[in-house]
Amino acid sequence: MGTTDNAAVDLCLMDPVFEKYREQKGPLIPILQRAQGIYGYLPPDVLQIIAGRLGVPLGKVYGVATFYSQFYLERRGKHVLRLCDGTACHVKGTAILMTVVQEEYGVGPGETTEDGELTVEIVYCLGSCALAPVATLDGQVMGRMRPETLVRQVRKQIASAQRATDA
Ligand code: FES
Repeated sequence: MGTTDNAAVDLCLMDPVFEKYREQKGPLIPILQRAQGIYGYLPPDVLQIIAGRLGVPLGKVYGVATFYSQFYLERRGKHVLRLCDGTACHVKGTAILMTVVQEEYGVGPGETTEDGELTVEIVYCLGSCALAPVATLDGQVMGRMRPETLVRQVRKQIASAQRATDA
């Protein structure tokens, strides 16, 4: 079962970030980048504490966080799978790919697995229509995707990252 809830976050992790940018002018964007590096996204409590510490209106912090596509306001997984559902991919079976991902990981579009490993997103044309159906996994383009290959690739990606962390 997936979730898009904002889990409780440890705000103390932001202390060294505020310390680092204490003397710097206009540190909002680098602080948001650091915060996202720590939490993987920008939780509401973190945006609030940033506004408070910088003395900037919360609306401005949200304005910046939503203006730049690099920032995410929802929790995201360590790995991001994007399935293209543009016309070419749609007719070549994106729905089947989505179904197997849902069966395997229990998450639908815009959701993240509860273990925080995988976020699934739908996009509309990745510019590689000749390779339909197309998916990207952590930014890597995978064309002519078949359900079993897709599941295998996602499993492999998650497992290899876990091995690298354990090593
Ligand atoms: S429609 Fe999927 S890559 Fe163009």
